[in-house]
Amino acid sequence: MKNILTGLRPTGKLHLGHYFGALQNWVKLQDEYNCYFEIADIQALTDNFENPKKVRDNIKEVALDLLAVGIDPNKANIFIQSMIPEIAELTVIYSNLVTISRLYRNPTIKTEIGQKEHLFGKNGESLTYGFLGYPVSQAADITAFKGDLVPVGDDQLPLIEQCREIVRKFNHIYGETLKEPEHLLTDTPRIKGLDGSEKMGKSLGNGINISDSEEEVAKKIMNAVTDPDKIKKDDKANPDVCMVYYYHKLIKNDNINTVKCECEKGMRGCVDCKKELINKMNEYLKPFRERRAYYENNPDLIDEVLKKGTSNAQKVAKEVIKEIKHSMMIDYFDK
Ligand code: TRP
Repeated sequence: MKNILTGLRPTGKLHLGHYFGALQNWVKLQDEYNCYFEIADIQALTDNFENPKKVRDNIKEVALDLLAVGIDPNKANIFIQSMIPEIAELTVIYSNLVTISRLYRNPTIKTEIGQKEHLFGKNGESLTYGFLGYPVSQAADITAFKGDLVPVGDDQLPLIEQCREIVRKFNHIYGETLKEPEHLLTDTPRIKGLDGSEKMGKSLGNGINISDSEEEVAKKIMNAVTDPDKIKKDDKANPDVCMVYYYHKLIKNDNINTVKCECEKGMRGCVDCKKELINKMNEYLKPFRERRAYYENNPDLIDEVLKKGTSNAQKVAKEVIKEIKHSMMIDYFDK
């Protein structure tokens, strides 16, 4: 069975953008592959090093969200990056195989540095070694678990490519040791926010969180953006510019044709349409809420899941580091 490795930064609660864009697919993958889902706290710290509490608190939230959407700890491993010291060791080892100019040219890093002026300065004059180097640490994440396939969004492709380069260089210098991972691109959509913006984002506050209560969902949907040209209840409207319609579609409301038809004919007021969406959305989220509540009421179980996932993951990482040290002739007292 092939190995899947992918990760998430614990910097906030997960929302429906994560669900439809990635997690829904992860739930399927766990039946077909050996899955390792990493909660990347060390990577989260590269741009949150001043907020350790935020990262710590979100580890549990992210774990709960993963369990809520149906990641099954009996099938997949959920683990915490910092609990696997082999990743840190590999990061140091790989750092010789990457040039600084190559890291600067990594498109993902370049974009992110630009977005983080507050941390790294206008021209990147305060850029840290850790942030610039996180692709190296991500290469360690992937290879430490013999990741064959890495399911990620297209924004992450330059990071996978960088990992492949490191693997090739390693194998070229020290002998064939590591496997080149491949990305697993899925045709998962980028989910729009309730405010109509192109992306649902943690920091944008325009999304529905997996952990939102029924009341929170109702409040958010009531504020969702609808066709701005529709003023009165019986005005005809264009569902294609309405976020409420967009979400009806997203959760596959079986009444979708009626929603569209009535909206276009001016036979459906936005408030009623929102109320219908609230009911359907809460129905959709019900199994997530039930699983979340189960684990929330059994906090020891969450610790168990993370400990077991970490221990399984570490077994593989230990093997890998052994092979690597052997290839590099730094396996001094190994028999
Ligand atoms: N960089 C990824 C993100 O921001 C998270 C991540 C960490 C990751 N380690 C990984 C993704 C390894 C794939 C493989 O979403």
